[in-house]
Amino acid sequence: MKYLDELLGKHESLAWRGDLHVVVSGIEFDSRRVLPGGCYVAVKGFREDGIAYVGDAVARGAAAVVSVHPPAAEYPQVTWVQVKNDRRALSAMASRFFDNPSRSLKVIGVTGTNGKTTTVALVQELLGAATTAAIGTLGMSFAASSRPTKLTTPEAPELFAFMADAVKAGCANLVMEVSSASLSLNRVDDIAFSQAVFTSFSGDHLDFHGTMENYFEAKLSLFKKLGSDHWAIINGDDPMGPRIIRELNCRYVTFGFSQTADIRPLKYAFSMEGIKAVLQTPRGKIEFQSRLLGRFNLLNIMAAVSSALVKGVGADRISDALAAFMPVKGRANIAYAGDFLVVVDYAHTDDALENLLRAFREVARGKLLLVFGAGGSRDKTKRPRMAQVAGRLADRVVVTSDNPRQEDPQAIIADIVAGFDPGFTAYQTEPDRRAAIGLALDMAAAGDVVLIAGKGHENYQIFRDRTVHFDDVEVVREKMEPRHA
Ligand SMILES: Nc1ncnc2c1ncn2[C@@H]1O[C@H](COP(=O)(O)OP(=O)(O)OP(=O)(O)O)[C@@H](O)[C@H]1O
Ligand SMILES: [Mg+2]
Repeated sequence: MKYLDELLGKHESLAWRGDLHVVVSGIEFDSRRVLPGGCYVAVKGFREDGIAYVGDAVARGAAAVVSVHPPAAEYPQVTWVQVKNDRRALSAMASRFFDNPSRSLKVIGVTGTNGKTTTVALVQELLGAATTAAIGTLGMSFAASSRPTKLTTPEAPELFAFMADAVKAGCANLVMEVSSASLSLNRVDDIAFSQAVFTSFSGDHLDFHGTMENYFEAKLSLFKKLGSDHWAIINGDDPMGPRIIRELNCRYVTFGFSQTADIRPLKYAFSMEGIKAVLQTPRGKIEFQSRLLGRFNLLNIMAAVSSALVKGVGADRISDALAAFMPVKGRANIAYAGDFLVVVDYAHTDDALENLLRAFREVARGKLLLVFGAGGSRDKTKRPRMAQVAGRLADRVVVTSDNPRQEDPQAIIADIVAGFDPGFTAYQTEPDRRAAIGLALDMAAAGDVVLIAGKGHENYQIFRDRTVHFDDVEVVREKMEPRHA
C-alpha cells in the first residue's frame, strides 16, 4: 500500500489541502485512466491544461489531485497538492509508486536523431532478451512479453509500471530509446542511467524544440546525468561528439570510422547480403557478419558492440548475436532478393532519405531506383527538399503517394516534382502506390537496388475519405512471385 505523503518529494509541494496520509491506488495523468483511489496529476500540456479534467478524475473516484494550480474550491472531497513542477512530480511519484524500479536495473539510454530503434534492438540481442528489457518505437518488451507504446519514450507512469514488471520477471538490464522530447518533458528524470549512447545528430523535431541549440541541449542533459562509475558511448564521427565529451563526468568510449575512435572497423564490406567487418576494440578484434544493410547500420552495430563490451560481453558472444540478429521491421528491410534487391524503409524526411540513398549507393552494383512520396496534411516544406535529395542521389525516381490524408494526391506529387532541378528528367509519377512499385520493379536490372521509402512497417494508406490496408513488403512479394512461377 502506498500513501500520498510518501510518494511526494519533500521539495515538490508548495501547498496542500486535505489529508496527505491518504492511500493512493495509482498515479495517472490521463483522467480517463483514473481508478477509484487514484492520484490524478493534472499536467499543463502545450494544447490543454489537465486542470480541465479534474472533474472527470474526481467522478472516477480520484483520492488526490496534484497540480501547479492551488486547491480548487469545487472539489473539497479530494486531497489537493499544489506543486512547482507538475511533470517532475509525475515522474517522481510514479517512480516511488513502483518502488524506484530503475535502481534494480542497469539502464542504458540511447539518444540521437537517427539509429535509436535499431541500436536498442541490437543491444537487447547482444545482452540477451531473457534478462534485458527494451523500450522504444517498437514497444516495450522482454523475453516473450511485449506491449505496444504510442510514444518512442512513454510517459512516466507507463515507463515505471513496465520496469517494475521487468524487474519482477528477473530482468537485470533495460535498454531504452530516449527521445529529446522525453528529456525536455521530465519523463526520464527519475531513471538511474548507467550508460548513455549517442548515435547521431541532425536537424529534426525543430517544430518542438525551436532551435538546434535547444534540441542539442535536450540530448546533452542525458549525458550530464551520468556519474563517475557510469559510461557514455559516443559516435566519434559526429561533429557533436566532442561537445558531449567535454561535458561528461563519467568514463566514455568512442566508436566510428575515424582512426581515433576506440571502436572502429579495420575492414568492412557492404553488399546485398549485409555487412561483413572486423572491428578493432580495446578488448581485441571482433569479426562478424550481419544481415543489416548499409553504412549507417555499421555505425549502429558499433554503438551496440561498444555498449556490450562495456558491460563485459565477450567477443564470441557478440559475433554470434550479430549473425543471428534480424533487421528491425520497416528499417532497411529486404522485401525481395534475387538478381536485384528490393528494400523497404520508413525514411520519410529529406535527411533520412539522404542517409538511405547514400548507404545503398555502396550496396548497389548497378542502379539505384527510388519510389517515394510525401505525407498529406503535414509539413509541406520537406516536399521540394526530398525531391532535391532524390534527384541528386537516385538514378531513377517514381514519385507516388504516402498517406495523402486530406490532400489531393496529385497536388502533393506536383509539390514534389516542382522541387526537382529543371535538368532532372529521370522520374515518373504514379499516384497509385501499388502501380508505382510495379513500375520500379519493371525497370530493375541485375545488380540494381530498388528503395521503397516512406512507409516502412506501416500497413495502411490514409486517404481523405478512407484508410485502406497497404503494405510495401506484401506488394513487392505479390508482384515478384508470378515472375518466378
Ligand atoms: N546511425 C544512423 N545514422 C544515420 N541514419 C540512420 C542511422 N540509423 C538509421 N538511420 C536512418 O534513419 C532511419 C531511422 O532510424 P531509426 O528508426 O533507428 O531511428 P530512431 O532514432 O529510432 O528514430 P525515431 O525518432 O523515429 O524513433 C532509418 O530508417 C535509416 O534510414
Ligand atoms: Mg525510434
